[in-house]
Amino acid sequence: MTIDLKELEEKVSNEIKTAKSSSDLDEIRKTYLGKASELVAAKKQIGSLPAEERKSFGQTLNEVKNRISAATDAKQSELSLGERAIQLESERMDLTESISNPKVGHTHIVTQAWEELEDVFVGMGFRVAEGPEVETDWYNFDALNIPPSHPARDGFDTIYVNYGEKDSTVLRTHTSPVQIRTMQNQEPPIYIVAPGRVFRRDTADATHMPVFHQIEGLVIDKGISMADLAGTIEAFTTSYFGEGFSSRLRPNHFPFTEPSAEFDIQMPDGKWLELGGCGMVHPNVLKAGGIDPQKWSGFAFGFGIDRLALMKFGISDLRELFTNDMRFLSQF
Ligand code: DAH
Repeated sequence: MTIDLKELEEKVSNEIKTAKSSSDLDEIRKTYLGKASELVAAKKQIGSLPAEERKSFGQTLNEVKNRISAATDAKQSELSLGERAIQLESERMDLTESISNPKVGHTHIVTQAWEELEDVFVGMGFRVAEGPEVETDWYNFDALNIPPSHPARDGFDTIYVNYGEKDSTVLRTHTSPVQIRTMQNQEPPIYIVAPGRVFRRDTADATHMPVFHQIEGLVIDKGISMADLAGTIEAFTTSYFGEGFSSRLRPNHFPFTEPSAEFDIQMPDGKWLELGGCGMVHPNVLKAGGIDPQKWSGFAFGFGIDRLALMKFGISDLRELFTNDMRFLSQF
């Protein structure tokens, strides 16, 4: 018998140990366990051994074969793990790729106008105030010197909410009720602006929407006069619209101010744009807010935000602002 099983086993063990891949192991299996291997050849020769040696040689041969087979299998699972890890890594999808150049959205043009207005007024020393969109008729009307049956109530196309006593709860028709809430919650001096959503029973067309946005201004201090109002509107005009724009006040009537005015903006091309209403806060309104008209005086103003956005971006139809068509909105 020429085969040295011990030497063979040692040699194979070393090769298994240093095998680097499944295909190395396949090669080892073929060479040492396959049909043409030394082990198979040795097995065939058992018959030619002396009878007393056959049994133990056959036994050893089987044990060696089993150990080689087991060692190859063990190495195989060890290598498979590594190979699977490598395969996974190479096939891994880089999901970050799809967000490496993300499309970032931007605020709606009404929000842009709203925030710019806040910035301008905050820059002039105003604070931002807010109030509820669902109001009582007292805050929306009575406190603003519009008692029940006052004709001004009809002018507002009010949307009533089915809550409490009949007609006692409304969707606010303007931001003016924030004047009252602010006066009730804060001692003068008061310098606030209150942007917000307002609601009216209007059919949507190019210049009307049932939901739109206003910004209200209120100043209460000692010795405030109409000149302070005109100066504030003028300062706002140049700072929001830019140099070359100016403003004017025209007499008008509002129940909550006395005297009242309409204010217009003159554009550099000379054209006038009607923007909003303003005036000296009516003594009844001060009283409703808990402020003594003998000690304090003030002015208020209010105007639409949406029209400013339309004007700024050259949009002709108010409805475009609210259809939320991305093809339209993404232009601005
Ligand atoms: N609230 C008025 C409206 O919605 C606008 C307005 C006019 C507000 C005069 C004021 C003001 O504060 O003084 O039509």
